[in-house]
Amino acid sequence: MAILNYEPNKLVIGKGSLDAVKDVPGERIMIVAGGSSMRRSGVIDRIVSLLGDREVFFHEGVGKNPTIYEVNSGVEDFKKYTPDTVIAVGGGSTLDAAKAMILFYEHPDLDIKTVTPEILPEKREKIFLVAIPSTSGTASEVTRTSVVTDPDRGLKIPLNCMANKPDIAILDPDLTMTLPDNVVAETGMDALTHAVECYLRPDCDDFNLALTQYAILGIMKWLPISFTEKTEEARERMHNFQSMAGMAFTNVGLTMVHGISHAFGGYYDYPHGLTNGVILPYVLEYNKAVPSVAEKMEGLAKLLGVDDFIQAIRDIRSYLGIPNTIRDMGLDEETYLKDLPVVAKNSLMGPTKFNPIVMTEDTIKVVIDAAYYGKSLL
Ligand SMILES: [Fe+2]
Repeated sequence: MAILNYEPNKLVIGKGSLDAVKDVPGERIMIVAGGSSMRRSGVIDRIVSLLGDREVFFHEGVGKNPTIYEVNSGVEDFKKYTPDTVIAVGGGSTLDAAKAMILFYEHPDLDIKTVTPEILPEKREKIFLVAIPSTSGTASEVTRTSVVTDPDRGLKIPLNCMANKPDIAILDPDLTMTLPDNVVAETGMDALTHAVECYLRPDCDDFNLALTQYAILGIMKWLPISFTEKTEEARERMHNFQSMAGMAFTNVGLTMVHGISHAFGGYYDYPHGLTNGVILPYVLEYNKAVPSVAEKMEGLAKLLGVDDFIQAIRDIRSYLGIPNTIRDMGLDEETYLKDLPVVAKNSLMGPTKFNPIVMTEDTIKVVIDAAYYGKSLL
């Protein structure tokens, strides 16, 4: 049995959908944003103006891999301003951080250093959450996922619970029109990884196979156009496909690509989508040993009109300028070998537990080694 949940309650999509902000409930609004891009592009001013005469507070400056300290600083702002609605606007990291801030604000009894998914709450108690992504990747606007980093332990902590699901997701492609090329490429690879990992899981049900298969085909077609030609249509399609992948993986889950990627991201602060993009083909090669996974990949190749699905992934990755190996990301061999025991251990956590092939420290080192040196696993 599987219980599928496609909340948030409302998904507002399409060009100009930012206008839906004027109808969000609440009188004390906290806007959570990342660096300065949402300010520079005028998005924050537009949100403030849509909110009319309501009281508006700001927590800005969320980084690319938000830390538990950034979350705690947000909690302090929440205590000070006592918002009834939070509008999180920005990339996936910003949305994830806002979810974590709300979680620890509403539940001061939880300790961010020691919390485990089993004790996380099922419902958000006080705050109405509006999520407005400015990148097309994490799909945090429709998921129960929030990932924060504990820099002291070099670990990413997944805070997955129903209380994290936003009430409204606003998918306005206008916000993605000024994204830097590398962000389009990296977040696009994150979305593709979500769709592929979810689709290839043996427990992916009919509903989520439909969502992810359509997302995979759509991303493979539109991501290169979004990257090079930057058309409004491509950006809109990518914004929708990444969210569809999110709706699916929040119900079904991910696999070893994200497990390894979180380990490297937590340890070296690498961008999430970039790391996924590097690792994805190696994991596909490894998991191809499972007949049902190989069969699904053959089916995808047919639908895409290509000979080999993994090669198609490698082709799109190289078109986007994503490196072929972890070594190409700039990690020197001495450091890699020194850190490997810890990173391999950390890679076994989270979604690796649901990989189609059960992984051990020894076997995951084989996959990581292939991704570091560029070895084939076929
Ligand atoms: Fe991801």
